[in-house]
Amino acid sequence: MLHDLLRSEDPTEASRLTEAFALDVLMGLSSAPKHIPSKYFYDDIGSRLFERIMGLPEYYLTGCEREVFERQHQRVVEELSGEPLLLVELGPGNGVKTRLLLRALCERSQPFRYVPIDISKSALSALLDSLETAFPGIEAEGIAADYLSGLRWLTRGADTRTVVLFLGSNLGNFSGAESLVFLKSLWNMLKDGDLVLIGFDLRKDLDVMRRAYDDSEGATRDFNLNLLHRINRDLGGDFDVDGFRFYSTFDVHGGSITSYLVSRAEQSAYIEAIGRRFHFGPWEPIRTELSYKYLESDIERLAEETGYTIVARLYDARRYFTDSLWRVCKGE
Ligand code: AVI
Repeated sequence: MLHDLLRSEDPTEASRLTEAFALDVLMGLSSAPKHIPSKYFYDDIGSRLFERIMGLPEYYLTGCEREVFERQHQRVVEELSGEPLLLVELGPGNGVKTRLLLRALCERSQPFRYVPIDISKSALSALLDSLETAFPGIEAEGIAADYLSGLRWLTRGADTRTVVLFLGSNLGNFSGAESLVFLKSLWNMLKDGDLVLIGFDLRKDLDVMRRAYDDSEGATRDFNLNLLHRINRDLGGDFDVDGFRFYSTFDVHGGSITSYLVSRAEQSAYIEAIGRRFHFGPWEPIRTELSYKYLESDIERLAEETGYTIVARLYDARRYFTDSLWRVCKGE
């Protein structure tokens, strides 16, 4: 079953979503330096490009986290055993890693209800169908919504023990301030003793990190340029997409891979839905994404500042990636 909190087929709701996109583009392109939020990467074309990125050898994150789950899911399952469980996943993607966890829970006869939350209805439907086939009779339903609205709706008045999965280093796409707000909002919606499993991409050799965000096939470049194509398609923009060059770099001080689209020359683009023309100087950048790479001390500080206790730290063999299990701590 799919609960659609976005109702994107509803024309008023669809135009509200387009309006929000237009407003974010207006704000971002009117700022100095210019930026566009990376959440707009994920229309149907962008989601397919991201699937392709996840299959690339240079994009080590997916394989490393899969390895963490293959090697260590029993450690998580031990913590989850007991009374019936509400297992919520924020942004599940194709659910490859989660499947390992679900299988282990089924084998232990641990009662659970699995609820993935995502803004992409098509991705949710595909995931739910494949789970029905793999685990006949599984109690699973999807929520099409942004993460926090979906979780708020789901946990309203519920007293079931809840575990939230937020994998794939998705947290790394938030700014430092956004991460704190997100983790505190999550804390606020959960109960004392509930658990959160978060994927963090760890700091490593600079070239390994850089190659993951500038792959030899150009999939990451296309993923970024799709933002301008999307503005042209959805907001009536007239961006000359070839007039922009993709560039990404690791900011050693700030701790993130930072991605940009850089204007190759003086140019402008008109966006119909905004009713405004935007100017770009030669080599002026638009920042498109932050992908944080964490130190262990960053993770400890984040947990402490937002009200969680770290219960388990799971790693792949190279320690490129970690999934960190946190307990919500609401004591005085
Ligand atoms: C979804 N997110 C964790 C990806 C990342 O690694 O920041 C998105 C991505 N951007 C470029 N490649 C992948």
